[in-house]
Amino acid sequence: MLDMPNRPALPPEIARRRTFAIISHPDAGKTTLTEKFLLFGGAIQMAGQVRAKGEARRTRSDFMKMEQERGISVSASAMSFEYGQYRFNLVDTPGHSDFSEDTYRTLTAVDAAIMVIDGAKGVESQTRKLFEVCRLRDLPILTFCNKMDRDSRDTFEIIDEIQESLAIDVAPASWPIGMGREFVGAYDLIHDRLEIMDRADRNRVAESVKIDGLDDPRLADHIPPGLLAKFREEIEMARELLPAFDRQAFLEGHLTPIWFGSAINSFGVKELMDGMGEFGPPPQPQTAAERQIAPEETPVTGFVFKVQANMDPKHRDRVAFVRLASGHFQRGMKLLHVRSKKPMAVSNPVLFLAADRELAEEAWAGDIIGIPNHGQLRIGDALTEGEALRFTGIPSFAPELLQSVRAGDPMKAKHLEKALMQFAEEGAAKVFKPMIGSGFIVGVVGALQFEVLASRIELEYGLPVRFEGSQFTSARWVQGPKAEMDRFANINKQHIATDHDGDMVFLTRLQWDIDRVQRDFPDLRLTATKEMM
Ligand code: G4P
Repeated sequence: MLDMPNRPALPPEIARRRTFAIISHPDAGKTTLTEKFLLFGGAIQMAGQVRAKGEARRTRSDFMKMEQERGISVSASAMSFEYGQYRFNLVDTPGHSDFSEDTYRTLTAVDAAIMVIDGAKGVESQTRKLFEVCRLRDLPILTFCNKMDRDSRDTFEIIDEIQESLAIDVAPASWPIGMGREFVGAYDLIHDRLEIMDRADRNRVAESVKIDGLDDPRLADHIPPGLLAKFREEIEMARELLPAFDRQAFLEGHLTPIWFGSAINSFGVKELMDGMGEFGPPPQPQTAAERQIAPEETPVTGFVFKVQANMDPKHRDRVAFVRLASGHFQRGMKLLHVRSKKPMAVSNPVLFLAADRELAEEAWAGDIIGIPNHGQLRIGDALTEGEALRFTGIPSFAPELLQSVRAGDPMKAKHLEKALMQFAEEGAAKVFKPMIGSGFIVGVVGALQFEVLASRIELEYGLPVRFEGSQFTSARWVQGPKAEMDRFANINKQHIATDHDGDMVFLTRLQWDIDRVQRDFPDLRLTATKEMM
């Protein structure tokens, strides 16, 4: 991701947009931080509303006992709000490792990420996985080290761990003073300010004291003498040992600025938001098979990165989340649905504001809009003003776990098919219809997804279902010349199925089988991923 000096300046409405996700390990503080973002973005009035609204929404629609019981966020959503001169689009990533495929796709829709780590725990497994996904796309990453009001690790140790385990340079944007009970606040190294945490009021923004460098006697007015000496020593070491902030290295994904704070105490949050505004990338060019799409191009283009069904069960609607890649979208526009080659009047697009949605009268490149539809829009689909584009980089993964599924009531097999197809289109699971026999085989990336699916099918379709072990353990998409595919299918009927798009899949339990096919049918390609189109 480069600042391209010879690109024309972006229209101001696009240039002020920041579209990003927050990545973290469960419990590091993502929800709390999100809530403070919305609070400072004026999208909610009071902390506590996100959870309350989340729960209200869940009971109103499908989500879902499990989500509450286990504290997993199953659905990703997008939230837009103003912050100063900026428009923030925060795309929520599902936190649990079982949903990594969904998360991966979510990360194709953002231009940057905020990585939240717990100051006592450092880089945890889920953070590392998500970071690796960001790295594949060279996303710029801002780091927030949270919970500094608790006993945390030594600051240098935390930074070292990030540098070592994630192989990225870390530049301190702020430096914490004290920790746990003794945590006073942080020194803003970018603006030479002292930020003092208010322990009495968790929603109040820290008091900010302008400081003229580290010798300024005003420091002693706010920092107890023991801490001040240690702080001065640390800063000296930090300046010597750690890289200074370099925006270009950050935009290229080689360096991450780190802020230290406490989300629950609203401390460090504004500085982080300011950092996202000031240094974060505006909407970036998106890649299609045909060419790069620049955000400032006049024609509107966008791609679907997520489909969510039954957000409102009364209407049985589906919402396709579209990242606008270029142009200025206006409500009522007729766009070309590239896959079906049909025009589509987008008359009731929605914007998501905190937990509410409202009609989107207009939107710009970088924004995420939701388009309610009856199943025409699928993950990976492109919408344009006429150009046949295929956005790339939205993969579909081979599931790692397969089970067969049956309706509790055999008379309801058709309903089950409908439910399964819907989840397949949402991207929540892979559904394979075997060439021989009845029933379906469902594939997921994480075991918990079977439970999620079973409860959603029951809740949304009133259909009790049973998942059972399947004789197969792997699925591979088959591609090649038609005649060769037919010959292959005929010989291997027991192993052949089709996915919800009608594409051929080879089901097996042995890697050996896959190797054999590749030896015996050299013209066929067996792949573990398929680009969604
Ligand atoms: P997540 O979305 O990343 O899973 O984390 P979440 O924000 O839910 O935070 C996990 C726990 O950490 C919550 O406590 C939350 O209150 C706490 N927390 C978040 N930020 C801070 C912080 O800056 N300092 C401290 N000390 N704690 C923080 P909980 O007990 O699990 O939930 P709750 O009862 O507080 O809601």
